[in-house]
Amino acid sequence: MRIDIISAVPQLLEYPLNESILKRAQQYNLAEIVVHDLRSYAHDKHKIIDLPPYGGGAGMILKPEPIFECIEKLQSDRSYDEVIYVTADGDRFNQKMANQLSLKKNLIILCGHYKGIDQRVRETLITKEISIGDYVLTGGELAAMVISDAIVRLIPGVIGDGESALTDSFQDGLLDAPSYTRPEEFRGMKVPEVLLGGNHKEVAKWKEQQRKTKTEQRRKDLL
Ligand code: ADE
Repeated sequence: MRIDIISAVPQLLEYPLNESILKRAQQYNLAEIVVHDLRSYAHDKHKIIDLPPYGGGAGMILKPEPIFECIEKLQSDRSYDEVIYVTADGDRFNQKMANQLSLKKNLIILCGHYKGIDQRVRETLITKEISIGDYVLTGGELAAMVISDAIVRLIPGVIGDGESALTDSFQDGLLDAPSYTRPEEFRGMKVPEVLLGGNHKEVAKWKEQQRKTKTEQRRKDLL
């Protein structure tokens, strides 16, 4: 899978892309994530990529020309399954969407910044608009990282334990069971007896019960 991320502040993406799971996925050639600096597609002397909105109002709007140029250049090199714009007024991101996107070959993620982007970009180039939650971020970069992480970890081979991505919370609509590791007792708090016994059937039953109870208590809407 290849993900091209277009950003006005590409430095924001550097660290998360070069650590942990996303780094490993790229090292193993399971995912390729390429960051594009929107400013390098501005051709005027001052490399202007944003301007005040027509009709007035607070904030700056990303101009259409550099975005069009960047996306059209990418599309002339390969075909893309989706051109995603991350925005607070997009469709809410969830595990189902992550699963679907993880099966795609090439994705573009466009990050807004400042007040947003020119509407004409949204109407002509964007195929999907995604929000990561009902709150407003300063820019789309963190949202692009959240989405890339959720997608890339689902690609077979990215996470060491083949099962773990599929047993995550949300994959089957239930939250995860609690986890414990050594020591068996810590500051008087003991690991539940059933996990120490080695009876796999009992462990599975306990986990299922824990998952149901936790989901019932915390996220009734998932049941
Ligand atoms: N950009 C600003 N806020 C956002 C959000 N909640 N989700 C995705 N992109 C955003």
